[in-house]
Amino acid sequence: MRLVLVGPPGAGKGTQAEHIAKHYRIPNISTGDIFRANVAERTSLGEIAKSYMDEGELVPDDLTVAMVRDRLGRDDTGGGFLLDGFPRTVPQAESLSSMLDELDVPLDVVLKITVDDDEVVRRLSGRRICRSCGRTFHVEFDPPGTEGVCDACGGELYQRDDDKPETVRRRLQVYREQTKPLVEYYENRGLLRMVAGTGEVAEVTKRAIEALEQPVA
Ligand code: AP5
Repeated sequence: MRLVLVGPPGAGKGTQAEHIAKHYRIPNISTGDIFRANVAERTSLGEIAKSYMDEGELVPDDLTVAMVRDRLGRDDTGGGFLLDGFPRTVPQAESLSSMLDELDVPLDVVLKITVDDDEVVRRLSGRRICRSCGRTFHVEFDPPGTEGVCDACGGELYQRDDDKPETVRRRLQVYREQTKPLVEYYENRGLLRMVAGTGEVAEVTKRAIEALEQPVA
């Protein structure tokens, strides 16, 4: 299975990516996570990416595409992969198509997770992430046993810099302007599936897998 997850910030892409990738036993590749790891390690890519991420803007396509090309070239993607957060613009989708042509493999499906703006704001304002293992929590919908402490590894929980309300508003605007055209791009190619992102996490995963199993029209 070679699959792409799209949807607005806070739709639950990262949450669902973990479960879906486990279900299909494929690597879960998140461009946001790779950028954040570079920021934490203070690499030159991280320095550049941070300046865009903190403003809620997209990192330039050339940097993002080069990073994904490198990641898809690794051995673990031979049996498929899940891309969370890439592509995010039509030029990125065209680059992905060329990369897969070079590898002589098709993209199987693009799953769009839908939630409304009010839900996005509720989710992102309450999101907390573990500094050590990266597990995501929500102060209301998925709280840790002890406030500020990761259930999985005991690490410290933090709030992402780009989850501030003004940055979330900009991210939503960037999504509408630059990422929404992708939905039409993939719809025209018969690759798009949709799933409602509201409800319990397990319920959304079940619906997502049902949508992914539907035969291509
Ligand atoms: P990225 O990290 O990809 O952020 P995003 O797309 O804005 O998505 P999020 O991670 O905010 O949300 P999510 O949909 O994964 O939701 P989550 O599962 O965490 O990108 C960050 C930045 O990196 C971008 O702004 C850009 O600058 C840069 N970047 C990344 N990719 C790029 C690219 N291709 N090109 C250029 N730049 C790029 O869930 C959110 C919260 O809701 C959590 O607290 C969770 O616990 C909770 N939740 C999840 N599901 C449910 C549910 N069913 N019910 C209740 N709560 C739920």
